[in-house]
Amino acid sequence: MFENSDLNLTMDKERKLIIAGNWKMNKTVAEALDLVNGIKRDLGNVKELDIVVCPPFTALGEVSKAILKSNIRLGAQNMSEHNFGAYTGEIAAGMLKEFSVRYVILGHSERRQYQKESDALVAKKALAAHGASLKPIVCVGETLGEREAGKTEKVLETQVRDSLAGLNKEQMGETIIAYEPVWAIGTGTTATAAQAQETHSFIHFLLGKIFDESVARRVRIQYGGSVKPSNARELMSLPDVDGALVGGASLEERSFADIVKNSI
Ligand code: 13P
Repeated sequence: MFENSDLNLTMDKERKLIIAGNWKMNKTVAEALDLVNGIKRDLGNVKELDIVVCPPFTALGEVSKAILKSNIRLGAQNMSEHNFGAYTGEIAAGMLKEFSVRYVILGHSERRQYQKESDALVAKKALAAHGASLKPIVCVGETLGEREAGKTEKVLETQVRDSLAGLNKEQMGETIIAYEPVWAIGTGTTATAAQAQETHSFIHFLLGKIFDESVARRVRIQYGGSVKPSNARELMSLPDVDGALVGGASLEERSFADIVKNSI
């Protein structure tokens, strides 16, 4: 499908898988604690891959305490591009650091759709995240209409270039990309293994072109969109798929734990 596919650098699996649960706007503090304590019980000994939970802001403090000294890492779902100031309702990177947050999801398609976040804004946020030593998880992905019109490659190239604009090679190496086809999010329809591999490989290829090959080899690309225990093994075994960003199935201990276990 992609004209450049014969040039791509298909990655051998030298990157550690990273599986993150994006809880979106779900879970009270009490529910968040229940979930994370269950995850800790179930997955507390997993060393083979990185496990991240991304609760809503209101639960970060308690979840942070619950996972202290564990193998579970904390992520936030968004942050401001500014470090402080008169930005009512916003949260700065430094405030997330107070809760030992390590990762922050940026430019999720829901924020692009409902809050009209642009690639340029996402790039500013990514720079601010790195400024605070947070690792951004930058989300990209095409809509169904764009895929059907054969525009996937073009849309992703624009998103990747513009949402990562201004990052240096070192920062890019510490950035995670989440490829989340909009048509697969919350729909139960997952990209096929062939679609996921082809698209991830294209993104690694793009990173090689924009930055360089050694940077491209370092960057982990998560797949997101209806990841479930039943499809995790196949998706995570693909050469250019380096993890998952899980929505619905991360809200229950059993399904999240099974996704992780099936990915090892
Ligand atoms: P679902 O796993 O519910 O499809 O959501 C994916 C997602 O948006 C993760 O960020």
